[in-house]
Amino acid sequence: MSHVLILGTGGTIAGTASDPGRSWAYRAAQLSVEQLVDAVPELAACALATRQVAQIDSKDMGWVTWQALGQAIEGAMADEATSAIVITHGTDTLEETACLLHALHDGRKPIVLTAAMRPATAPDADGPANLVQAVQLAQAAAQRGEGGVAVALAGQAWSARDVRKAHSHAIDAFDGGGAAPLQGHDPWPQPEARGWHGLRHAQPPRVEVVTSHADADGWLVDAALAHAQASGSKLDGLIVACTGHGTMHEKLEAALQRARDAGVLVWRSSRVARGGVQPRDGDAWPAAGAWTPAQARVRLLLELLSARR
Ligand code: SIN
Repeated sequence: MSHVLILGTGGTIAGTASDPGRSWAYRAAQLSVEQLVDAVPELAACALATRQVAQIDSKDMGWVTWQALGQAIEGAMADEATSAIVITHGTDTLEETACLLHALHDGRKPIVLTAAMRPATAPDADGPANLVQAVQLAQAAAQRGEGGVAVALAGQAWSARDVRKAHSHAIDAFDGGGAAPLQGHDPWPQPEARGWHGLRHAQPPRVEVVTSHADADGWLVDAALAHAQASGSKLDGLIVACTGHGTMHEKLEAALQRARDAGVLVWRSSRVARGGVQPRDGDAWPAAGAWTPAQARVRLLLELLSARR
């Protein structure tokens, strides 16, 4: 019989507080994914397998964990016994991992990410219901031959292409940046199937995010360029979290021009929660579309990696 494979990476969903009455004072990534599953009676009758890929607070997410996750997903795609994948993740960088998987996954089987805003020991823990929602969504998607990447939380489902964290502490912390949640049996957006080979590079390109704001005079950009030059390292890309629909302080723009002259790829995104920066004819600086600055960083990493091949 085929099963849903649950890959654990940590997060608040696996977090514990020593005093359940003070559940805000908790540590993320304490319980194993097996413990999370065992604690949910509604999952007892489901055909599930678990694998701990990482055990981190997702603020510490990065290349090495993405490599491990990519390997586990590739293995599960080749395993006939696995019908779908659920990933337990922290909420803080979930939108980055979701965006990465949407770009790389080949769409053979559904992948559903889930998370929680309250630790597992909280009296109002949301993790168990979110895990059940994710498993049910993954099972239903596998049955109808769906192969995209979705995110299931707080009774709603989002495409991995659109999802982002939109509230720092509300239980329904996610939205689609203006895109609607997935409804019922609506088809999920097709993943881009770029393949996992890019993750095999030992080191990712260096891409940093700078924000335009009052008095943003480009000091950080010049400092990064000077550091790269002095240390013999390379700054490959910069994402600008722009004001409004892609504008930036003129002094920051002048520094970015210096960076571009030094070979750094620069993309614009927006620090505004919804809408992003839509590309227009004659753009002086490429626009990252609807992606958040953190997601735009993932996308630029992937662009730079494909240029390396
Ligand atoms: C994390 O992102 O790992 C901690 C915060 C959370 O999951 O809500």
